[in-house]
Amino acid sequence: MAAPHLLRTDDWWRDAVIYQVYPRSFADGDGDGTGDLAGVRARLPYLAELGVDAVWFTPWYLSPLVDGGYDVADYRTIDPAFGTLAEAEKLIAEARELGIRVIVDIVPNHVSDQHAWFRAALEAGPGSPERELFHFRPGCGENGELPPNTWPSQFSGQTWTRVADGEWYLHLFTPEQPDLNWAHRAVRAEHESILRFWFERGVAGVRIDSAALLAKDPALADFTEGVDPHPYIDQDELHDIYRSWRAIADEYDGVFVGEVWLPDTERFARYLRPDELHTAFNFNFLACPWAADRLRRTIDDTLAEHAPVGAPATWVLCNHDVTRTVTRYGREDTGFDFATKAFATPTDLGLGTRRARAAAMLTLALPGSVYLYQGEELGLPEADIPRDRIQDPMHARSGGTDPGRDGCRVPLPWNAEAPSYGFGSTSEPWLPQPRDWSRYAVDRQRADPGSMLALYHEALRQRRTAEGFGDGPLTWLPAGDGVLAFTRGHGLMCVVNLSDEPAALPAYGELILSSGPLDAEGRLPRDTAVWLRSPAPGRTAIEVTGGNSVIMPLPGGEPLP
Ligand code: NOJ
Repeated sequence: MAAPHLLRTDDWWRDAVIYQVYPRSFADGDGDGTGDLAGVRARLPYLAELGVDAVWFTPWYLSPLVDGGYDVADYRTIDPAFGTLAEAEKLIAEARELGIRVIVDIVPNHVSDQHAWFRAALEAGPGSPERELFHFRPGCGENGELPPNTWPSQFSGQTWTRVADGEWYLHLFTPEQPDLNWAHRAVRAEHESILRFWFERGVAGVRIDSAALLAKDPALADFTEGVDPHPYIDQDELHDIYRSWRAIADEYDGVFVGEVWLPDTERFARYLRPDELHTAFNFNFLACPWAADRLRRTIDDTLAEHAPVGAPATWVLCNHDVTRTVTRYGREDTGFDFATKAFATPTDLGLGTRRARAAAMLTLALPGSVYLYQGEELGLPEADIPRDRIQDPMHARSGGTDPGRDGCRVPLPWNAEAPSYGFGSTSEPWLPQPRDWSRYAVDRQRADPGSMLALYHEALRQRRTAEGFGDGPLTWLPAGDGVLAFTRGHGLMCVVNLSDEPAALPAYGELILSSGPLDAEGRLPRDTAVWLRSPAPGRTAIEVTGGNSVIMPLPGGEPLP
């Protein structure tokens, strides 16, 4: 029986909480060491109880898994390691029964080198129509021994690989991920058909991988740092592609979330025009250090850039590509940058966890939708993976200096005492789980009202049921240095203390939730957040300072926003 009260149909995506499942590491239903769809189906009640609105699955299609499934060999087949298409269909239907929508991940920039198109292109040889679906070129240099251009890779190393007949092909990621030629009609037609294929199966949305990279400068001209436009990032042609996608999504009431890493906020917002993508990931927020002024600027910029196009913001603290939140916030450099990831960075996990709790409450109080990456609700730290077990190609391609992304992809701990912490594997899981992870296990955290899981559970419940959360306006309150304070309507206030001192709270009628205990004087300790409800619709404005709370009458006695 469906849970219709949970399945809102009106623009649900504008303020949804979307949980990211990395199927390989969520739950292992058949015990072979790799997570799968049977594992996810068995754990759907956990997601329903947590109270998420939708689940985004990273790629589950047929794949040699060179890049964790972002090397797709066939979009219409589920990889046998994960299950079958029939199981995916059942999963989509069962999730919906529980009030959870499903979002799939489409990777349009490239395919696997095992994809039928690429194999045919290799066989057909230079000048063939099969090669036109990719970017094949003769090389430079006297004997074509040099790559056709100098484009930088998204993954360090070469962007071109030479095949036996002497031609080179382009791959912005690994050689096993050849880039498609988006100037070719058949490439566009195929992806439109793939979208329909998944919408027909009941998915509510599609996450678009590397969404700003598909279109390439037709001349494949050399790249020069700082030259605008970039030959393969954010080319204008992309907007035409996404307009045609939007028309398809509209037929099914489907929504898009684009993976768009673009520092230029005006260019970013173009993807969110009303006839293009519904939403895009807010990576500026994810990369932002734990500092009040930086966060406030990022929040303001985000809201300002989305407003003119009418799109809701998204808020993301981590995903399967970046350092886990509690680890990042426990380091000296609390921002995120692919370029500076390093082994053995000193980390204070206690501090990081306190901040991650506060950050969760900040994020969930902001207007828009929120992405939650599996294990974030458990406060999992980044795991140290022994070098000989690292599988992520980013590690090898960096010459071994980049630790890669496996540290945030470790199989989840469900039961403290069970083998593989209840992940389900009877043999060793595909990535090793750290020795001390029983304390993060779901069953332990369920029994502990002070756990990260308990905090997320309650925060999501409040966000779902109490007034003022989700889409809508945000108004900053005056606050002391290092303190963020804002209202969200219906008297809802969020205060986050990132200063070194306890902060006095404004007068409030109700304390809804706090990420940690207040001190003996009722002040908000450092690295702590609180949700408050203002006293009976007020005639007061509130200033939150490092040590004092100043209550000031508002001119004309206007109520708080
Ligand atoms: C972004 C994905 O999130 C990442 O995991 C992948 O390696 C690249 N795109 C290439 O598909």
